[in-house]
Amino acid sequence: MAKKKITVVGAGHVGATTAQLLAYKKLGHVFIVDVLEGIPQGKALDLMESAPLENFDSRITGVNSYEQTANSDIVIITAGLARKPGMTREDLRDKNAGIVKSVCEEVIKYSPNCFMILVTNPLDTMTWVAKNVTGLDKHRICGMAGVLDSTRFRSFIAMELGVSNEDVHATVLGLHGNDMVPMPRYSSVAGIPLTELLSKEKIDELVDRTKKGGAEIVQLLKTGSAYYAPASSIVNMVESIVLEKNRIVPVAAYLEGEYGIDGIFMGVPVLLNWSGIEKVIELPLTDEENKALQSSAEAVRQSVAQLSI
Ligand code: APR
Repeated sequence: MAKKKITVVGAGHVGATTAQLLAYKKLGHVFIVDVLEGIPQGKALDLMESAPLENFDSRITGVNSYEQTANSDIVIITAGLARKPGMTREDLRDKNAGIVKSVCEEVIKYSPNCFMILVTNPLDTMTWVAKNVTGLDKHRICGMAGVLDSTRFRSFIAMELGVSNEDVHATVLGLHGNDMVPMPRYSSVAGIPLTELLSKEKIDELVDRTKKGGAEIVQLLKTGSAYYAPASSIVNMVESIVLEKNRIVPVAAYLEGEYGIDGIFMGVPVLLNWSGIEKVIELPLTDEENKALQSSAEAVRQSVAQLSI
């Protein structure tokens, strides 16, 4: 099988870590794009020099323009500002919208048939901007957030119970921010519902930590936001696409009536494979869960409405 071509826009913490994992997992040739001269080239060369030890044959190329990214199969957008302590993701909105717009205009000129994954925050709004600029079909564009929020929830559950991460499954719906909707009822350990294993108080505590998971890292790092778990989450999605795994994962997908939500991106479970988002899975929700999801959707609508581009 010919190697896939994967472009990562943004050679910062998230972009470079993503490129590293893509190479180490042998998922394709990787192009790293950034506005900063020398940074993508330097990081790409550094990664190439690890190839004999890490045993991969993919090419990693760093560039400052988009010609060489032509006909990419997958494009991952991480370009933009990251949070500092005290900032919400929404505080990044207008600056990052301008960056995402200009990046997408270039990407789509050269890779009109790509599958696009947005990572820049505020995620759900940036994915909306990217869809508008590129005109990509809703099956070919999504945002990465649900996998990250779920892996955070999973790790907290595994730490609490002292069990293997492998056995923990967790679902998080909704936007990537304070109004996300962790779903204990759809979370389990080796098939045992989470609600059978932990008290309501303990689950509430883990849910709250999950909602604030990004901020907890920002507070510790002080100079930026998380990148190891975000990069792993992106690459987990890419694996599902490239290896045609048909995984069901939560992503920010464009909804047209599913869950009673229309015209925005929202974190929901989807079936992900080489064709992209094959379908949105509609989970039965309790009134309380649905209320939380609808208020999450309302927050995204407001964010989109306030865009100044
Ligand atoms: N085109 C290409 N790259 C750009 C552009 C642009 N127009 N504008 C900025 N960049 C690059 C920067 O030069 C920098 O190398 O984006 C990179 C961002 O890297 P970091 O500052 O390290 O930020 P990072 O931690 O990678 O986060 C990037 O992902 O998770 C989200 O909230 C996070 O929005 C943030 C994004």
